[in-house]
Amino acid sequence: MSKRLKGKKAFITGGAQGLGLAMGKRFMEEGADVVLTDIQLDKVAEEAEKIGAAAGIEHDVTDPFAWKAALEAANEAMDGINVLVHNAGIGSFGNVETETYEMYRKVCAIDMDSVFIGTQAAMPYLKEHQPASIIVISSVAGLMADGNFLSYNTAKAGVAMMTKSIALHCARNGMQITANSIHPVFTRTAIIDPMIQLKGSQEEGEKALTRNIPMKRLGEPEEVAAMATYLASDEAKFVTGSEFRIDGGITACGLGAK
Ligand SMILES: NC(=O)c1ccc[n+]([C@@H]2O[C@H](COP(=O)([O-])OP(=O)(O)OC[C@H]3O[C@@H](n4cnc5c(N)ncnc54)[C@H](O)[C@@H]3O)[C@@H](O)[C@H]2O)c1
Repeated sequence: MSKRLKGKKAFITGGAQGLGLAMGKRFMEEGADVVLTDIQLDKVAEEAEKIGAAAGIEHDVTDPFAWKAALEAANEAMDGINVLVHNAGIGSFGNVETETYEMYRKVCAIDMDSVFIGTQAAMPYLKEHQPASIIVISSVAGLMADGNFLSYNTAKAGVAMMTKSIALHCARNGMQITANSIHPVFTRTAIIDPMIQLKGSQEEGEKALTRNIPMKRLGEPEEVAAMATYLASDEAKFVTGSEFRIDGGITACGLGAK
């Protein structure tokens, strides 16, 4: 690896597994210091140790006090924070008639509200260690809708627009802080297991999920980590307020995508 992230100090939420862990591993390989946080304490501590991260911290992204404590701990562990990755998230199936208000609030709290409270809490650290970058893991579901993804569509579209607002605030106030969103299609992590299981077998599940993806396969966590590496690096210092799709071509499709 070329150490593209030397001098970067990355705080990654939802880092115990899946995309967060893949980004943590890649960032470490590229020379960054990394702190992983997650609601799963044992797992995040274990994975952080395995990849040689500075710390693995218990952190519920919906809790403003937990953000304060986690950021303080990460700042201490890495002597600063200049990359903030909002990755923690959950999914939900439910349409406008079946989704419960409780689940809707939960998805919005974890997938969307956390980006506001976390970015606000992290701003003093990012301002102190510029150039800095904020990376928000949205989804293709933030760009295109499905009748059964009511809450997820809402939250993922919300964070995409929130990212642009954050980007404009930072740019217009002369800060060297970028903010961009990443929009993956179905990618091989635990979050898609319930959708695979609905079809009975791994093979049938993957076939169903990839039917409308022009490249006819799932994404891999490392492919998202590669994009995040670019956005965290100084190579992307003029890139802000943008949406990056990692989707095998699905959002390029018109009607009747096949
Ligand atoms: N895998 C995909 O197909 C896909 C596609 C598009 C977007 N995404 C997004 O990528 C992000 C990462 O998901 P993943 O695919 O790695 O799934 P995952 O389920 O493997 O990982 C999600 C992580 O978030 C953590 N988490 C959940 N609630 C939390 C909370 N309140 N506080 C802190 N951590 C919490 C979980 O413990 C878990 O480690 C999510 O935001 C997800 O919506 C995933």
